[in-house]
Amino acid sequence: MEVKKILVVGAGQMGSGIAQVAAQTGYDVTLNDINMELVEKGLNVIKKNLDRAVSKGKMTEDDKNKVLERIKLADNLEPAKEADLVIEAVVENLSVKEQVFRKLDELAPSHTILATNTSSLPITKIASFTKRPEKVIGMHFMNPVPVMKLVEIINALQTDPEVTKTVKEVAEKMGKVPIECKDVPGFVSNRVLMVMINEAIWELYEGVAPAENIDNIMKLGMNHPMGPLALADLIGLDTVLAILNVLYEGYGDPKYRPCPLLKAYVDAGWLGRKTGKGFYEYK
Ligand code: CAA
Repeated sequence: MEVKKILVVGAGQMGSGIAQVAAQTGYDVTLNDINMELVEKGLNVIKKNLDRAVSKGKMTEDDKNKVLERIKLADNLEPAKEADLVIEAVVENLSVKEQVFRKLDELAPSHTILATNTSSLPITKIASFTKRPEKVIGMHFMNPVPVMKLVEIINALQTDPEVTKTVKEVAEKMGKVPIECKDVPGFVSNRVLMVMINEAIWELYEGVAPAENIDNIMKLGMNHPMGPLALADLIGLDTVLAILNVLYEGYGDPKYRPCPLLKAYVDAGWLGRKTGKGFYEYK
């Protein structure tokens, strides 16, 4: 199946990045959120990224305008009626996703694939909210979306292999590398990553070393582009905690129990870059 029109649901950090990359690679995109203020906020992030590319000479002003022309905005899900592929990137809350998927299933034509960018919620369960579970799949982009090469493709138990093939083609056209895995808690990426981040937070909690030292040891010693605590701040500490809880509940294994320091930071509203404070401070 050829995908031409994509609806991105959720204009936050991930949704705006997905919409940008899709528009840059020639797709007609609609960026949606629950109100126009949030949609405009997402669009401004895209504009900023494109302006930076223009100022670095990586894109012409004309190309930037063409990309922006390919992005339509919506504060409702009606554009699902026209979409070949919907990529959902709303808040990581199963009951919110249930509402969104039920509505999308109602509106979208029967050929439309419904993908979710969830970082850890069960795709098989999300698929079960629809009458087209074989057309539901995980398309897990990495943050920052315009930079990171990977799209983790997660097949629900019900996913049709033709759907997997189509979304892999879309990811490739978007300049990404799709890699498949099964639908288990945390998938491949976050089952590994979150354990590392949590362990770094335990080290900070126990006073093994200050945050800078923990991060620099991992950067200089393992060649990681950023340390685990800085990465947690980039992802958002609320998201890190939510994923660890999914792993902890999903496997029932204490190795995934979130560090109390992480819970305290989330309670304090210190969620990382997005709130200006996490393990580091951001201006
Ligand atoms: N949006 C768009 N572009 C961005 C960006 C953003 N938010 N942040 C950085 N960039 C671009 C810069 O413009 C720059 O582009 P050019 O090469 O064209 O000049 C390039 O990325 C490099 O940026 P910087 O020079 O500013 O900084 P850097 O070299 O330190 O790279 C980084 C920044 C790309 C974030 C790098 O540190 C990195 O790769 N970090 C690890 C990120 C990571 O692990 N992401 C996965 C998180 S897990 C996840 O997303 C899944 C989940 O479910 C939680």
